[in-house]
Amino acid sequence: MDLAQAKHAFITGGASGLGLGIADALAARGVPVTIADIDAEALARVTGSRGNIFRGVVLDTRDREGWQKAKAEAEAVFGPVDILVNNAGIAPNGKPFADMAADSFDRILAINLVGIYNGVLAFAAEMRERGRGHIVNTSSQAGLMTTVPGVGAYSVAKFGVTALSEQLRTEMEPHGVGVTALFPGFVQTNLGQNTVKIGGDIRQYSDVVMTSDVTPAHVGAMVVEAIERNDPYIVTHKGVWRGIEKRFNALKAACDFRDGA
Ligand SMILES: NC(=O)c1ccc[n+]([C@@H]2O[C@H](COP(=O)([O-])OP(=O)(O)OC[C@H]3O[C@@H](n4cnc5c(N)ncnc54)[C@H](O)[C@@H]3O)[C@@H](O)[C@H]2O)c1
Repeated sequence: MDLAQAKHAFITGGASGLGLGIADALAARGVPVTIADIDAEALARVTGSRGNIFRGVVLDTRDREGWQKAKAEAEAVFGPVDILVNNAGIAPNGKPFADMAADSFDRILAINLVGIYNGVLAFAAEMRERGRGHIVNTSSQAGLMTTVPGVGAYSVAKFGVTALSEQLRTEMEPHGVGVTALFPGFVQTNLGQNTVKIGGDIRQYSDVVMTSDVTPAHVGAMVVEAIERNDPYIVTHKGVWRGIEKRFNALKAACDFRDGA
């Protein structure tokens, strides 16, 4: 999508971390942004210092009526949304499936997968009608391969986001609407604290020190570039390929075994 033609971007989970990095990168290119977040305090803090092309709207992405209200409020100011970034999410809770409380599983799926579908439900049909627009969905490297025990429910949701994005891209492409799936590796954000803040549970990561040179600002720049080129995928960390390749090789071996069948 030509960003010079972009009139309004709507970014969920935009008050922190990757969402804020994406919002800043789009605003720097002159695109008015609405950041939608469940955290009203963080929204006020972030929008207060960012000028009048940057607005906040309170939204819990699980709430379908809330989506309609947020959409109406945002579009009354900046007009129809032509870039939707479905990014809000919470962290894995660290429990293996056998030990996980059902409400933890439900919460992770409701925010990390259904919340993204809710965004598509609110905006995709109108973008298709207008014949323009772009949708970015935040998955994760955990949406491309399973990793360590305890990330399972998160991975289920993120694989779902991968599938949703690929399918949506096929459906929207003939109508001039682009779709990109974003696969971040580890990026230092407030994901753990924010998950606890909204009532989620997380594993204590004190024994696992995760660091990364990739920042939300880097990811923001990658997203802008991907929207402009209509890329299907953004993979933020190159090393992720090792895990993906292992999975694909195992699948390939299973297919080769059936060759001729
Ligand atoms: N940080 C990483 O290493 C990493 C890696 C892979 C994927 N991701 C994904 O990136 C996305 C952004 O996470 P982040 O790391 O920037 O974390 P973050 O906590 O800094 O930002 C997430 C924002 O989403 C908001 N939010 C949470 N639930 C919400 C809801 N139901 N409705 C509206 N807003 C809600 C939070 O208040 C917060 O402002 C998530 O989907 C996460 O799964 C992050």
